[in-house]
Amino acid sequence: MAAPPLAHYYNYRNPLYNNLTPKSMRIDIITVIPQLIEGFLQESILGRAQRKGLCEIHLHNLRDWAVRRDRRVDDYPYGGFAGMVMQCEPIDRCISTLLAQRHYDHVIFTTPDGEQFSQPMANELSLCENIIILCGHYKGIDYRIREHLITKEVSIGDYVLTGGELAAAVMADAIVRIIPGAIGDEQSALSDSFQDNLLAAPVYTRPADYRGWRVPDVLLSGHEARIKEWELAASLERTRRLRPDLLQGQ
Ligand code: ADE
Repeated sequence: MAAPPLAHYYNYRNPLYNNLTPKSMRIDIITVIPQLIEGFLQESILGRAQRKGLCEIHLHNLRDWAVRRDRRVDDYPYGGFAGMVMQCEPIDRCISTLLAQRHYDHVIFTTPDGEQFSQPMANELSLCENIIILCGHYKGIDYRIREHLITKEVSIGDYVLTGGELAAAVMADAIVRIIPGAIGDEQSALSDSFQDNLLAAPVYTRPADYRGWRVPDVLLSGHEARIKEWELAASLERTRRLRPDLLQGQ
């Protein structure tokens, strides 16, 4: 089986790495509705990772960078098209201020016509030191921002959301949970579905027999090698049945 495409995988196994304090990752999210994701970012693994100092997530309200007194950051599109477009200036002011403070590996724009987000992309981004995620809204942003400031455009799926906030939250979650130390047992991130192009094997907990629904005997056997073999076979079976596309080209 191919090695998991998780860059941290190699770090976990590198004794030198264990003596280093991993650098804290920083994610700056720019949005017109910060309250949509504020709570989400403080809970569960994302919240804990920030409290442990593994990452910092900063929310920026784009309206704070508005040039108009009514704090609006959108305007009518040239050409008479429908909908409103986010203006260049507030976005440029906000992003340029951040870029002047530190180096960013990526300035990401969430948009349905971007590159499809995936586990390999999350793995790659989790190795970055600093990233900016700009959430799209309305009919889009002035295209000049995409041409001049954005380095990566990302979609979380072929459907259109009201705004990019949920996409930013999805990305932050997938990126932060695989930073070493974010979840208790790093191994459990390695055995996630998609880390090796396989869906994860089923998992069970006590009781071993619930209403006659029994946990597979092999899992109760304590025989490590047989359990590993079962896990791989179960992963392959589920992937063949549910996501055969993942096995193509392997
Ligand atoms: N904004 C609206 N829809 C989106 C999507 N599918 N992915 C990322 N950003 C979006």
